[in-house]
Amino acid sequence: MKKQLLLIALSIYPLLTYSQTQQSLSFYAEKCSINVGAAVGSAFYSNYNTNSTYDLIIKRNFNILVPENEMKFAVIEPTQGNFDFSKSDQLVNYAVANRKSLRGHTLCWHSRNPAWIEAGLTNGIANGTFTRTSLMSILKNHITTIVTRYKGKIQHWDVVNEAFNTDGTLRTSIWQQVIGNEYIDSAFVWANRADPAAKLYLNDFSVENYGSAKSNALFNYVKGMKNRNIPINGVGFQCHFIVNNIQYSKIDQNIKAYASIGVEAIITELDIRIKKTDYETDSATQLATQAENYRQMILLCFNNSNCKTIVTWGFTDLYSWIPNFTSNVYDYSLIFDRSYNPKPAYSSMLNELYLGSLSANNSIINDNSTLRVKEIGNKIIINSDMDMIRCQLFDIHGRLLFNSSSSVKEIEITLNKMPLSLIVLRVQLSNEQVVVRKIIKQ
Ligand code: XIL
Repeated sequence: MKKQLLLIALSIYPLLTYSQTQQSLSFYAEKCSINVGAAVGSAFYSNYNTNSTYDLIIKRNFNILVPENEMKFAVIEPTQGNFDFSKSDQLVNYAVANRKSLRGHTLCWHSRNPAWIEAGLTNGIANGTFTRTSLMSILKNHITTIVTRYKGKIQHWDVVNEAFNTDGTLRTSIWQQVIGNEYIDSAFVWANRADPAAKLYLNDFSVENYGSAKSNALFNYVKGMKNRNIPINGVGFQCHFIVNNIQYSKIDQNIKAYASIGVEAIITELDIRIKKTDYETDSATQLATQAENYRQMILLCFNNSNCKTIVTWGFTDLYSWIPNFTSNVYDYSLIFDRSYNPKPAYSSMLNELYLGSLSANNSIINDNSTLRVKEIGNKIIINSDMDMIRCQLFDIHGRLLFNSSSSVKEIEITLNKMPLSLIVLRVQLSNEQVVVRKIIKQ
């Protein structure tokens, strides 16, 4: 049988803009069963439901939100037994109205405690203000009151935050000193009793890479909690990273270690900061590297079924905590710039999620007898036993390079410039099956 042939020569890329080809981060993330989220800070409370750019970016792009500061102990229980839920209620109501999930952050931490708790320490040492029994009942009441109020509305809780030192020992917070190490187990039990359906996490920084003293300690501790039947669902890797300084394979190895003990390892506070002097020297290179770093973090979620949440710590450089935290040495850590324009990092996350959604949603046949792909120079020749009713080619950025909808068995595409990295081929066959092929270019 003579094969039908479609021969196409493209002199220029028929590029579509992102707005034509793409929807939003959460639009594609949901097709891949991934939660993609952001922390919202003080700007949220003056912007929400205003349809301001700030509000629209959140509404469109994120399906899970976390309050940056407004559920911390000092804000929510400023004096003993008196809870101020004004801010947290606003966020929870917004999330319910806009069908967003929430991460509650955080029930128990050494930092951001109110003065009445801090009164229990003198120069960092417990001073006898609280007995073990009194501090236990304070923590229990704090956790029970908050988790009960938001039962069914907050899906994840960072129950304990930053419990470990760099050397792997437990941090000597007021909780640890007065209650003992078992404050961690107790906090999880109380949170679980208040909302048995909420997922509970132990959140920390510098625990991302497999094999460091701190990450080993966290892993062993969580393993112990599982053995003691403490209700813990996962660990949160904060992921406050520096551009071009992320050890993906060590993070991947670590996530997989948690999978082996039935525990999630999710990305809870991602930001990737750039040294201001480097940015001033060559912003384009820095932003491109940052984009690749963000993309790789998405790949960790694709590659691990126990890592299906990725949350950035803010979303616009306008409101990042990084300049202040680093004494203005670093900045530009997030995926939108100060004017709310999406940065290359936004596009690379979006594109990776988009590519993932192509394969997640379709029945994929990776059978070479159905579809044969040959690359010769700047030509791609696609040949199939069945009619191909639609054929599309995308570059690494998710941009459509080629799109045809004629029913043929062979297509020859000539690109005037072959993309340097990955390209994705998506072919719909006459039997409605969709074949997605990633062609990795070296
Ligand atoms: C930070 C906030 O972003 C700042 O606005 C605040 O001044 C200090 O706390 N790890 C955490 C977060 O778990 O709660 C911290 O958030 C950043 C580091």
